[in-house]
Amino acid sequence: MTTHTISVLAGDGIGLEVMPVAIEVLDAATRDAGVRLDWRVQDWGSDYYRAHGTMMPADAIETMAATDAIFLGAVGHPDVSDVETLWGMLIPIRRAFDQYVNLRPVRSFAGVRSSLAGDPEIDVVIVRENVEGEYSAVGGRSYQGTPHEAAYQQSLFTRHGIERIATYAVEVASGRRKHLVSATKSNGIIHTMPFWDEVVAEVVDRAGDIELESVLIDALAARAVRSPQSLDVIVASNLFGDILSDLVAGAVGSIGIAPSANLNPAGEHPSMFEPVHGSAPDIAGRGIANPVGQIWAGAMMLRHLGHPQIADQIEAAFTAVVERGEVTPDLGGTLSTREVGAAVIAELAAQRSRATGA
Ligand code: NAD
Ligand code: IPM
Ligand code: MN
Repeated sequence: MTTHTISVLAGDGIGLEVMPVAIEVLDAATRDAGVRLDWRVQDWGSDYYRAHGTMMPADAIETMAATDAIFLGAVGHPDVSDVETLWGMLIPIRRAFDQYVNLRPVRSFAGVRSSLAGDPEIDVVIVRENVEGEYSAVGGRSYQGTPHEAAYQQSLFTRHGIERIATYAVEVASGRRKHLVSATKSNGIIHTMPFWDEVVAEVVDRAGDIELESVLIDALAARAVRSPQSLDVIVASNLFGDILSDLVAGAVGSIGIAPSANLNPAGEHPSMFEPVHGSAPDIAGRGIANPVGQIWAGAMMLRHLGHPQIADQIEAAFTAVVERGEVTPDLGGTLSTREVGAAVIAELAAQRSRATGA
């Protein structure tokens, strides 16, 4: 029996609804596979903030560092400033554990109509830089309450940061169509982007057999909706990758499906797995959130922890369920969050009994 300790941070809003369902699915998938997930559930988030004045306790990073992975729902609450929720929890975790890769696969499901005309087949992996760029901590607000009020933020790109994300993207592209699109904005306005282009091109050149296309982010957004089939692996800065991942997930049909892995590839620190979506206050409390993004993120976590077969089984199970139309309202269905979870667990059992011929 292999045991993995997992820090569970359901967080806020629909994070609290999709997390228990994903945990049940992962427990069902690992139960007879010699793997035990030891869930270390933490009540950190906006309720914790209102009680204690911080999103997480002072020793939270230390507590999570002692676990093998972090499973996050979402953070964000209408009554708490996003500055507190994000700089108090999500961003410090990504940085403390140097989770510099944010890996975001997005693909079509048969039977789920794309939001795009012609219902194109979409299968894209976004490799998003996750700790620097436009999300740098250098910035703030000044002269508040005066006519000189201002806000500023310094984009910060380092050679080290660009090299390592490009290197990871090249690896992903090597295992797929060997075609890499780099999202850029190097037409002279944004000083950082010609540097991004140079370093990405150097890394790709060294790899030898990857075709690189640098595409301006505005044109790339149009291409993603006009001809998503022309895209396979996209490497992007923090902000561009953030926007593109919701765009492509929305094109597939719902951002409720899309997963995300915040990776520290060398494994010096725990990696964190979460859906792409946020806490969705507009639907929170109704039990109708799509749990697939959280479940898929859980499958990515099991793959990362060395259990590709279990990950494959979970992905096959939720794919079958979604493709049968057993889905939540965001995908046009009538099922609740819990009902989708139950359907995935039933499908896992059915696949097991088919595999064993029982
Ligand atoms: P959101 O992703 O929470 O929601 C955007 C839209 O998509 C909403 O209409 C929502 O109902 C829908 N949606 C999202 N997930 C869904 C799901 N699983 N099933 C069905 N529908 C779903 O984005 P937002 O509304 O812009 O942000 C809400 C809060 O979440 C903000 O405070 C934001 O900062 C935060 N946020 C957190 C994370 C995170 O924790 N990683 C990510 C994104 C946004
Ligand atoms: C995401 C989210 C976060 C991001 C926000 C909430 C800071 O949108 O994980 O995609 O931009 O990284
Ligand atoms: Mn986002």
